[in-house]
Amino acid sequence: MPLARSLSVTSLSGLEEWDEEFDREDAVLFEIAWEVANKVGGIYTVIQTKARLTCEEWGENYFLVGPYTESNVRTQVELIEPCNAPLRRTIDKMNSSGCKVYFGRWLIEGSPYVILLDVGFTAWSLDRWKSELWENCGIGVPWFDREANDAILFGFLTAWLLGEYAAQCDEPPHIVAHFHEWLAGLGLVLCRQRQLPVATIFTTHATLLGRYLCAGNVDFYNNLAEFNVDKEAGDRQIYHRYCLERAAARCAHVFTTVSQITAIEAEHLLRRKPDIVTPNGLNVKKFSAMHEFQNLHAQSKARIQEFVRGHFYGHLDFNLDKTVFLFIAGRYEFSNKGADIFLEALARLNYLLRVNHSDLTVIAFFIMPARTNNFNVETLKGQAVRKQLWDTAQTVKERFGKKLYESLLVGQLPDVSKMLDKEDFTMMKRAIFATQRQCLPPICTHNMLEDSSDPILNCIRRIGLFNSAQDRVKVIFHPEFLSSTSPLLPMDYEEFVRGCHLGVFPSYYEPWGYTPAECTVMGIPSVSTNLSGFGCFMEEHIADPSAYGIYILDRRYRGVDESCNQLTSFLFQFCQQSRRQRIIQRNRTERLSDLLDWRYLGRYYVSARHMALAKAFPDTYIYEPQEPSSATGFRYPRPASVPPSPAHSLHSSPHHSEAEDEEEPYDEDLEAEKDRVNIRQPVNVPNRNKNQTVGLPEKN
Ligand code: UDP
Ligand code: G6P
Ligand code: GLC
Repeated sequence: MPLARSLSVTSLSGLEEWDEEFDREDAVLFEIAWEVANKVGGIYTVIQTKARLTCEEWGENYFLVGPYTESNVRTQVELIEPCNAPLRRTIDKMNSSGCKVYFGRWLIEGSPYVILLDVGFTAWSLDRWKSELWENCGIGVPWFDREANDAILFGFLTAWLLGEYAAQCDEPPHIVAHFHEWLAGLGLVLCRQRQLPVATIFTTHATLLGRYLCAGNVDFYNNLAEFNVDKEAGDRQIYHRYCLERAAARCAHVFTTVSQITAIEAEHLLRRKPDIVTPNGLNVKKFSAMHEFQNLHAQSKARIQEFVRGHFYGHLDFNLDKTVFLFIAGRYEFSNKGADIFLEALARLNYLLRVNHSDLTVIAFFIMPARTNNFNVETLKGQAVRKQLWDTAQTVKERFGKKLYESLLVGQLPDVSKMLDKEDFTMMKRAIFATQRQCLPPICTHNMLEDSSDPILNCIRRIGLFNSAQDRVKVIFHPEFLSSTSPLLPMDYEEFVRGCHLGVFPSYYEPWGYTPAECTVMGIPSVSTNLSGFGCFMEEHIADPSAYGIYILDRRYRGVDESCNQLTSFLFQFCQQSRRQRIIQRNRTERLSDLLDWRYLGRYYVSARHMALAKAFPDTYIYEPQEPSSATGFRYPRPASVPPSPAHSLHSSPHHSEAEDEEEPYDEDLEAEKDRVNIRQPVNVPNRNKNQTVGLPEKN
């Protein structure tokens, strides 16, 4: 009889790897999520990045369960025969009863097995399953909610799969089923209702109500305990979804959330305190040479610069070597993701850079998918014009080279005045004429379907950041996730992030927030907030986050306008850094990667599974939690070395030149003293006032 030994995993007590003593010979792990091999947002990243580690732990006994979509399978999954007899019998049985279940390997690191359920193929069962859900659980789902209908089909199919698998095994197996998010939650509820021999875990990556309430005009965190949850869900027409989510949270043997802040939210809104917090990690790639990630930054930046050359053709009146690239990326939730205050802060930054006569240019990218009709002509034309200029330069260069060669062949130095002829000049003049432009460089790279009501575009119209020559801050809105096959900006997201200087994620609602975490492991500084799981986690584990390029915006104790001012000052101070300071800061940021590695954070998942096994199979497994004292929690000390963190930098003038920067002496004691002086004072909690107009500073 295997005995599960407990692990002390309630706090990161150090960055040592752990050794799990646990006999899982007869245990099988199923991990179920709508985003398995199906990219929507951060849950895909959780599953995809964790796969390698979980495969190492569970080997042939680990199966991911997700929805079948043909396009995803074509690009990401290799379909194969089921890997063991009980699973083969299970899948055969389901397929002969009117389902379509696929088995394969997901072509990502670790190559985990995936079981994909075609929900559309079993849509004929929807009405029957809906009435079963109503009779057994009292949850009624309206016909028009397509996502909820999918959740029902997916839930019934998952429970069927797990029940059938348990029945097909000769020896009763110890199954752990880990369900992610409400869309997968019904499978868990049905496992419990049917009393299947399955240890269940439910992880919520956000609560439905939290997301909806925050997206509206609600002072969320000050009223968490006061919400009439049923009424709020009903008012937003998500009562049935909310019921599915709450049932999953309440039925699970073990309930987890991705951060402490979402744990508190879940306790109030789902009425269950999570048993354990399972923070999100990443699959951290360590380079053999320290400077390798810096080289990658330079290479990717060069590619972004190429794009910018095309985008701003005819208006390239700024120095690309003195241009910094900021970006925000993620699902398009305008205020939840903080795009609203980012735009306001950019307007204020523009003002500050202008009045200080800065020679720096800032280009802010918004990568948030919206409904579009493809790229717009003006944007595509920009890249075509750039290409044409490049081709012209190459042709002239070749002709020039040929003449030079010929003159050297006959032993003469070339007559420089004859190296370019009339034809060359005509060609070059024609190319220059093509760069004339009647309009300003476009804000948006695509034709938006809802152009007139789009929140980003409307905000830009209001604040007047139109990419004009006087603006020091330029904006580019790319309403589609990035892809290396794009004809416009052919880079994948990772490459793009590497080439930027700062990721800005000033979210109001963000249970974890992968985007700043991804920046960190790539050595790119970022702004997050103390309302995001990531921001709080970093605050807990780093003595002086901003010194490491982790700027944590205070959105908890400040009103919108004040937070916006703080963001503006982060951005302005970042812009005052020299190249040398940016390089050193990137080195520091990258040093934090270990903190976010699944090799360390995976322990929380291990613990959740042990807990669930012990609850579901108490005769076989024991879970003995050890509560380490908070004093043992791991904490990165304040860095001892240069340079000043920009948030605390006391540069008196923004006009210093790069040449000066290279020589700038550094006084470590002085900087340490500045750090001490700048420790933030706590303030009272003001109400969130979203109606408050975030005014712009007066322009002269
Ligand atoms: N992302 C992407 N391509 C893009 C922009 C973003 O793949 O062009 C990914 C990003 O890598 C991250 C995820 O989208 O892993 C967003 O996750 P996050 O947790 O930040 O937010 P969510 O969308 O889940 O709320
Ligand atoms: C990396 C490269 C350097 C380059 C620098 C540019 O560190 O290794 O060669 O000069 O990036 O930094 P910046 O912050 O100006 O993009
Ligand atoms: C959700 C949250 C996001 C989190 C992700 C993965 O989509 O919105 O903050 O990072 O799940 O847990």
